[in-house]
Amino acid sequence: MNTFCNLRTVRKNVPFFLKALCLLTTVTLLGAITTGCNGANAPIDISSPTVTSTTASAVESPAPILPVTTIAYSTIHLLPSHFVADNTARYVEPTDNPVTDAGATLGRVLFYDKKLSLNNSTACASCHKQELAFADNKRLSTGFMQGLTRRHSMNLTNTAYIDAGGGRGGAPAVQGFFWDTRAATLEIQALMPIQDKTEMGMTLDSLTKRLSQTEYYKPLFAAAFGSPDITSDRIAKSLAQFVRSLISYRSKFDVGLQSNFQNFSAQENRGRAIFNGRDGNCATCHGTRTQFIMERPENNGLDAVSTTDLGLAEVTGNQRDAGRFRVPSLRNIELTAPYMHDGRFLTLEEVVEHYNSGVQAHPNLSNQLRANGQANTPRRLNLSTTDKQALVAFLKTLTDTEFIKDSRFANPFLPQPAN
Ligand code: HEC
Ligand code: HEC
Repeated sequence: MNTFCNLRTVRKNVPFFLKALCLLTTVTLLGAITTGCNGANAPIDISSPTVTSTTASAVESPAPILPVTTIAYSTIHLLPSHFVADNTARYVEPTDNPVTDAGATLGRVLFYDKKLSLNNSTACASCHKQELAFADNKRLSTGFMQGLTRRHSMNLTNTAYIDAGGGRGGAPAVQGFFWDTRAATLEIQALMPIQDKTEMGMTLDSLTKRLSQTEYYKPLFAAAFGSPDITSDRIAKSLAQFVRSLISYRSKFDVGLQSNFQNFSAQENRGRAIFNGRDGNCATCHGTRTQFIMERPENNGLDAVSTTDLGLAEVTGNQRDAGRFRVPSLRNIELTAPYMHDGRFLTLEEVVEHYNSGVQAHPNLSNQLRANGQANTPRRLNLSTTDKQALVAFLKTLTDTEFIKDSRFANPFLPQPAN
């Protein structure tokens, strides 16, 4: 049926009743299977040619190919006990937008669909690649017109645990999405890249119009929201549901948490001790077990002064926030090079050397990175070569190879390998 619906050359001449049958079958099978007809022949308001694919190496199908059985996204956050027991992190799910199987399924299709960009060239997945834990390996990512993004792309691991609603112990609500934390929720965040002049260049009006003319979307929206209406609010909600379902919990570190780290080598355990203890002191900022993140944006001494990118200060207007950025999750950090908001470090060794000997005396440098009792002196760790290697070895235990192969999160426009 998929082949039948996708035969572009034939479709022009397909009698109306066959098209109707195709659509009807699609709707009927929804929930179990969603193949759909391609909407390539439908008139769209923007007709620029498709630019070379940046995501897929295999040939993409014009319509998504979803698995025969319903994908269980809504249970993804019903996680192993070490996640649930972690009272330093809260799974954030708005009451008006819980993750549902059909909602996240729609979100997945949208996430991988290049129709979300003005010239059909760029999907969310172009800059957030599953094999890289939904990060990009470029220092700056390439947008729909080949322009470069201002900052380095972020990995999308465990963003469900980013809590903008208030920190631990009633700390101020300053955490949010993006390096400068400017988006309070994933729902708000989702529509920003779509309308960004560099990233995808769309307007919400043209997007809803285009998707309304794309036949495979009607049944997907109907399944997710009870009616086939396509609105920007629904696009935001379903994208947020998919991103929220991207939870990594099957790394070597996770196994270690449940087995007293007996699965770790001596080197990895030494690295863990450095990370958590006084030798490295990393956990004071990157500490939460489920997310490896902290509530407050911090200044980690990359530069002595902030010039081109002020980080949080661009949102608050407060100079004391200059150079403060989101403390990113270190989950899957081995896969998400280059590092920092501007992608300045190419390797984990360079990052470790930064904390070891390179922290700059920025006026807003975080206390955790100042030498004891000396207000403007950056801390030096003086780690031995062996200890630096151990720290890197520990960081690599956060890699979750199941996560990057998980077919629930894979490109639905490509033929699916068995999970
Ligand atoms: C052209 C590249 C590009 C595209 C396309 C793109 N992103 Fe991003 N994404 C980025 C960059 C760069 C950042 C960091 C921007 C910043 O902090 O200012 C980012 C940040 C994010 C974040 C914040 C993560 C966090 O931990 O705070 C989320 C979520 C996200 N993107 C989701 C999406 C979704 C959903 C789409 C599609 C609708 C999308 N992105 C499309 C490059 C891209
Ligand atoms: C004061 C809080 C703080 C401490 C302590 C700290 N970090 Fe960071 N870390 C940050 C911030 C903030 C960023 C992002 C900075 C930016 O991009 O401007 C970051 C970024 C990183 C990154 C890059 C993440 C990415 O996705 O690009 C790695 C890796 C990292 N830190 C590892 C460590 C290690 C290892 C230690 C201990 C030696 C450590 N951090 C100590 C706050 C901290």
